[in-house]
Amino acid sequence: MNIDWNTDIYCLIGNPVSKSLSPRIHNYIFEFNNKNCIYLAFKVEDRDFKAIINSFKALNIKGFNVTIPYKIKIMDHLDEIEKEARLLGAVNTVKNVNGKLIGYNTDGLGFARSLTEEGIKIEDRNFLILGAGGASHAISTKLAIEGAKKIVILNRTIKKAEVLGKNIKDKFENTQVTWDSLDNVVKYLDSDIVVNCTSAGMYPNEDISPIDSTILNEDTVIYDIIYKPIETKFLKDAKRNKLKTIGGISMLINQAILSQQIWLNDVENYSKNFKKIEGFLDSNVEDIVNKLL
Ligand code: ATR
Repeated sequence: MNIDWNTDIYCLIGNPVSKSLSPRIHNYIFEFNNKNCIYLAFKVEDRDFKAIINSFKALNIKGFNVTIPYKIKIMDHLDEIEKEARLLGAVNTVKNVNGKLIGYNTDGLGFARSLTEEGIKIEDRNFLILGAGGASHAISTKLAIEGAKKIVILNRTIKKAEVLGKNIKDKFENTQVTWDSLDNVVKYLDSDIVVNCTSAGMYPNEDISPIDSTILNEDTVIYDIIYKPIETKFLKDAKRNKLKTIGGISMLINQAILSQQIWLNDVENYSKNFKKIEGFLDSNVEDIVNKLL
C-alpha cells in the first residue's frame, strides 16, 4: 500500500470498533482493485458525534461506514438519504460528494445477495425472522422489498416485534407479516428460511442459541447473521441435523464490497470482480476472525 498526499481516506465509526473486521476487509479490497485509498476505524463517543461528522467534511473524508450504536442517529446528520436506506430504517454507508453527505444501506442488499449466491430465492418464500432490533428491521424490510410471501417476526420482547411487524405490513401489502413471542416458535415450523437476527450466540456468549434448531424441518435453511464466531451454536446444531446453513460472513463481505462500489462509483469493476474479491476474503476471513477473538 502506497500512502501519499493523494490517498483518499475512508473509515468506520462506531463504539466499540476494537474487534472490527472492516479495516482488514476494506483495505484488502482497495488493494485488490489498485485504489489509492485507506480505511481506518474510529471509536466515537456520543458527545463528539456531531463534531466528528463535521470534521469529516472539513478533512474531505470520502466516505465512511457506520456501525452500532449510530446507524439510526447518523440519519439526522446527512444531507440526503437514499430511498432503500430510508425504508430499512438505518444507514451503514455514507458518501461525501463535495461536502454533501449521502446515506445508503448496503446491509439489506448484502444479505439478499448472500441468499442469491446460495441459490435461494426470496420471492414467494416464507421467512421466520428471530429478533426485532436494528438488524432485523433492515433484513425483514429488504425481504418484503424483494417480494417475500410471508415474514414472521419472533422476539423475546413481543412489543418490539409488533412495532416492526406493523411498520412493514403498512408499507408492503403483498407480503403477509405476523409477529409473536420467541417462545411460540413451534407454531412456525413451516417456514422455508429461518434468519437469526438476535445477538444470542454472539461472542462472548457462544454457548447459547436463539431457538432449539433440532425442532426445525429438515428442508429448512438456517441463516445466522452473526459472524463472531464463524459458526454459531445455532448453526452447528442445525448442521449436525443435516440442515442447510449460511453464516454471517458472506453478508459482511458483500456489504463491504457494495459500500466501495458506491464510494468509488466503479460499479463495472466491482461487479466484475465481486466473485474474486469474495473468494479471497472467504478463504482468509476465518483466520482473521479467529485471531480477533
Ligand atoms: P442489532 O442492531 O444487532 O439488531 P439490537 O437492536 O440491540 O441489535 O437487537 C438485538 C436483538 O437481539 C433484539 O431482538 C433482542 O431481543 P429483545 O428485543 O427482547 O431485547 C435480541 N436478543 C438479544 N439477546 C437475546 C437472547 N439471549 N435471546 C433472545 N433474543 C435476544
